[in-house]
Amino acid sequence: MCGIMGYVGEENAADIIIDGLEKLEYRGYDSAGMAVTDCGKLAVKKVVGSPSGLRKFSDGLIGKIGIGHTRWATHGAPTVENAHPHCSMSGLFTVVHNGIIENYAELKAELEADGYIFKSDTDTEVIAHLLEKEYNRDLKGTVSAALTKLKGSYALGILCADYPDIIVCAKLSSPLFAGTSSGGAYLASDASAIASRCDRLYRLGDGEIGILAKDSFKVYDIDGCRIRKSEVKIKSYDGTLDKGGYEHFMLKEIHEQPVAVRRTLSEIIDEKRRIKFKNFKMTVQDAKKIQKISFVACGSAYHVGMVGAYACERFLHINSEACVASEYRYKNPVINENTLVVVISQSGETADTLAALRLAKRSGAKVVSIVNVENSTIAQESDSVIFTRAGKEVAVATTKAYSAQLAVVYALILYLAVKVGTMNRKDCDSYVGELCVLPEKIEQILSDESKFEKLADTVVDSDYICFIGRGFDYCAVAEASLKLKEVSYIPCESYPAGELKHGTISLIDEKSLIIAMCCSDELRTKTVSNINEATARGARSITISDTEDADIQVPKIADIFSVLIEVIPSQLIAYYTAKKRNCEIDKPRNLAKSVTVE
Ligand code: F6R
Repeated sequence: MCGIMGYVGEENAADIIIDGLEKLEYRGYDSAGMAVTDCGKLAVKKVVGSPSGLRKFSDGLIGKIGIGHTRWATHGAPTVENAHPHCSMSGLFTVVHNGIIENYAELKAELEADGYIFKSDTDTEVIAHLLEKEYNRDLKGTVSAALTKLKGSYALGILCADYPDIIVCAKLSSPLFAGTSSGGAYLASDASAIASRCDRLYRLGDGEIGILAKDSFKVYDIDGCRIRKSEVKIKSYDGTLDKGGYEHFMLKEIHEQPVAVRRTLSEIIDEKRRIKFKNFKMTVQDAKKIQKISFVACGSAYHVGMVGAYACERFLHINSEACVASEYRYKNPVINENTLVVVISQSGETADTLAALRLAKRSGAKVVSIVNVENSTIAQESDSVIFTRAGKEVAVATTKAYSAQLAVVYALILYLAVKVGTMNRKDCDSYVGELCVLPEKIEQILSDESKFEKLADTVVDSDYICFIGRGFDYCAVAEASLKLKEVSYIPCESYPAGELKHGTISLIDEKSLIIAMCCSDELRTKTVSNINEATARGARSITISDTEDADIQVPKIADIFSVLIEVIPSQLIAYYTAKKRNCEIDKPRNLAKSVTVE
């Protein structure tokens, strides 16, 4: 969470830093700030809201070295005082920070006892004062000494007034990249913010300290010994921040789903319609040893995992579970070398998912991750990676990455089912055939949006919305409900249809709306009874199904794949409902695209 940018070189630092912060805005956007040094004179400017607000200060931010930050508040409200950078008491050190300092309260008490006066409620300010307290004119040594006192996670950009030509950086459990070119050296918490400017790109490791000067980037370990870093391959990060004629990125990305799914599948299904993963292979023997499959992820990615777990039990007959990554460690999971852990993450940086991955690896499990961002930490640390090719997703609410993740999970299950011998080649080929036509079916749904816009009128008037479904339909409603609440701010939840009458039905009245998904022929009559139970108590209903009598009829497909078809209407309903409520669709309040704190 939060975004860091830094620059030292021959150009005006403010322009480069603001430009980078705008690219990092998906990591948090409640406040922003930057510090620029000119001939040793430091200027700090901060704003509440988006980093583009810093542009108005451009005239006052002249200098060729600086650091900047876009914030997602953890400690203290999103105010100018709490926005980064934070300065030490004398102004000697200026710091931007991503992550959380877990022992900040103890450190703050000690520093206050020493006479340091705090101006913000942040954990970050502790770092600035601590650096000043530890300062002994040896900058690297000072930073090392301060870092050893910090517990938690951090990515740091540091300016020191005594060293006006360099930026110091360091990281622990929070990503940080540095790059160099003939124009200078760059620092960013995400490679995509600086990649296009750099000839060489480096990923800082945990416990490393980097020094950026206009013509060099040097890295040291905590004891001050030089480390030679290898370069990270510079990818051309696609998806310019262009809405392509759409009013919002979310709508654009909803429409990009056929391409995202097609592109993802084209990398894992060859011309003979055989599933082949570049980086993940299992022999029949290895596959047969699997005793348990755990899908671990957060939010929408967790909903993809739900589909995976349902499908594994059905098609592989292997014990499977979907786990919310933030709970994984606390449920003392039974993991061993016969466990396959499937980690799912768009950003590849989600802190809880990463912690779950590390636990799984420590416990001997084989970890395969499904990730959208190539240089991400989760991609680096997994035993194998299968990349989704959704392209850059800008809207905070995921749509195309979710669909691409689902496509990979489907392919993975079919691949494993053949290996463990629970599915014959002929059935697999038939499923793969259906999988490959999913993009066309999505196109069909997207070809007429007007009905979704109309349905949003019903949704927008509801005080309470409950999504229901059974089996795979339940997995789909879980995602549909999250999408609607996060962009429209209407309280809604999802339930297995049969669970409604075990308590939740008491919420139902004439201001309630039931949105039911029922594409499973086998379960339809049961779900319809559950809809009736709610409408008999005054609720209105919307049904999404592949039958003619549905309010929204979606194309027919094998039920395992129906989730990917059912969620498309729900994304559009969420979008148009949020639009009618004048919500900040691409950047819903309080959220961030990449959740790098636990
Ligand atoms: C919801 C949404 C989030 C993410 C979750 C995991 O629209 O986008 O729920 O799915 O924060 O993020 P990643 O996939 O980056 O690990």
